[in-house]
Amino acid sequence: MIRTHPSTPFDDQKPGTSGLRKKVRVFQQPNYAENFIQSVFDVAEREAGSTLVLGGDGRFHNRTVIQQAIRMAAANGYGRVLVGQGGILSTPAASHVIRKYGASGGLILSASHNPGGPDEDFGIKYNTANGGPAPEGVTGAIYARTQEIDRWLDVDAPDVDLDTRGVTHVREMAVQVIDPVADYAALMEELFDFDAMRAAVKDGLGMAFDAMHAVTGPYAHEILEKRLGFAKGTVRNGTPLEDFGGHHPDPNLVHAKVLYDLMMSNDAPAIGAASDGDGDRNLIIGKHRFITPSDSLAMLAANAHLASGYADGLKGIARSMPTSAAADRVAEALGIPAFETPTGWKFFGNLLDAGKATICGEESAGTGSDHVREKDGLWAVLLWLNILAATGKSVDQIAREHWARFGRNYYARHDYEGVESDSADALMDALTGSLPGLPGTSFGPLTVAEADSFAYTDPVDGSLSENQGVRVLFEGGNRVVFRLSGTGTQGATIRVYLERYEPVGGNLDAETPTMLAEIIAAAEQIAGIERHTGRTAPDVVT
Ligand code: G6P
Repeated sequence: MIRTHPSTPFDDQKPGTSGLRKKVRVFQQPNYAENFIQSVFDVAEREAGSTLVLGGDGRFHNRTVIQQAIRMAAANGYGRVLVGQGGILSTPAASHVIRKYGASGGLILSASHNPGGPDEDFGIKYNTANGGPAPEGVTGAIYARTQEIDRWLDVDAPDVDLDTRGVTHVREMAVQVIDPVADYAALMEELFDFDAMRAAVKDGLGMAFDAMHAVTGPYAHEILEKRLGFAKGTVRNGTPLEDFGGHHPDPNLVHAKVLYDLMMSNDAPAIGAASDGDGDRNLIIGKHRFITPSDSLAMLAANAHLASGYADGLKGIARSMPTSAAADRVAEALGIPAFETPTGWKFFGNLLDAGKATICGEESAGTGSDHVREKDGLWAVLLWLNILAATGKSVDQIAREHWARFGRNYYARHDYEGVESDSADALMDALTGSLPGLPGTSFGPLTVAEADSFAYTDPVDGSLSENQGVRVLFEGGNRVVFRLSGTGTQGATIRVYLERYEPVGGNLDAETPTMLAEIIAAAEQIAGIERHTGRTAPDVVT
């Protein structure tokens, strides 16, 4: 029998950049997760009896919400739920499973790179039948539904055994507990030259992979150690933990410092890599050479044809607006289109579905391709490995040769975290108000060529997304971008993205902070970060 539980709306269920993210305690309130999931089920496009994919990054509260979602799916007319064993599915693996099994959508339980545990973060994201994050039209409809919801439905059924693979039933609905790794690993074997990589590993190609006690552990053990033959111990922190061992599972230079220090030491293997909580981000560091995510996108795009899955070339390259323009230069050289989208992977979905872009990437450590509809951490690592195996070159060599050919976009992001929301809003409002006066103004040696609040019209469906960050473009291809993070759960995070283009023949091997010093000074003058927030230095530099 279907049970109807009366409920009332919560006013804070508007999905952000990547689904609904809140503190675990917020999600633990009676009806909170249920209201959101029911709202998804109420508005999701699906036929009776369709398949729902369920899985998460293994963080605290994952299993509780999965069990509840299964009972609710049974009451809401789904015919089948595919759930990862142990409640585990990396975000890219979930995207693949949705596509492969023709599901009408999936719920991914994750707060990505945010910390986990009873006092930390949790999240629920809905992906549609194409495997990608729900587009704004759908998240908007979900939010609207949360604001009028008056009941949620479930069936009275015991918990499903999530740790044993196989099919059980909750009422008429089949629940299939699947191997979370198998389908994904098979897809990677289709895209990359595992034989060539295995041979390179045998010849001494070494790596260190930090799974950060998050979801990629089981995937990396299987693919890197078992299938490619990297030595045991290559995968570090490979067991998913509910609190990620107390760390932030964010693969950047702050939270993956141990890996960074290793890669800068003389004991460094050829390549170091890390992935985040839900497995969609990546960090790439060569021996003595950090590769910024923006550069990684450009370098992967320039060399992708070396991997069998991309041997026919790319249809186009897409990047989010704050990501450096390095990838645009590659697209130009390849004679293919370059797209600039707002921040958020969901904006790539239409371009990928329409066959306009093959490779996409973001400065926030996301890279991926049209093999799924999410960014994909291990995919990026494997493409790098494939390129190393095919060329026999080091990461550093690939980077230097790339810059010698295309010039170099020196790049950094400065984050001011936990800023009072009112101050952050005031800063952005003042900045937006000052835009018309900026062109022609000089800040030290830099003169503003153009300044705007970024708006994007989707070339496929014509939808318009406004207020996607403030861009200040200086003459000569230098730039600063200001944006408020859409993924935080407390206060506001101001992100300042700094970029300086150094053309071919220029100073291509300098220290990034030195090269960016003038732009950093200009950014402070333009936005008045200290005046608005009292902060004199960023909390995180990536
Ligand atoms: C998530 C999304 C990314 C996006 C990032 C931006 O990770 O999946 O597509 O780039 O958030 O985060 P922010 O905190 O800058 O809004």
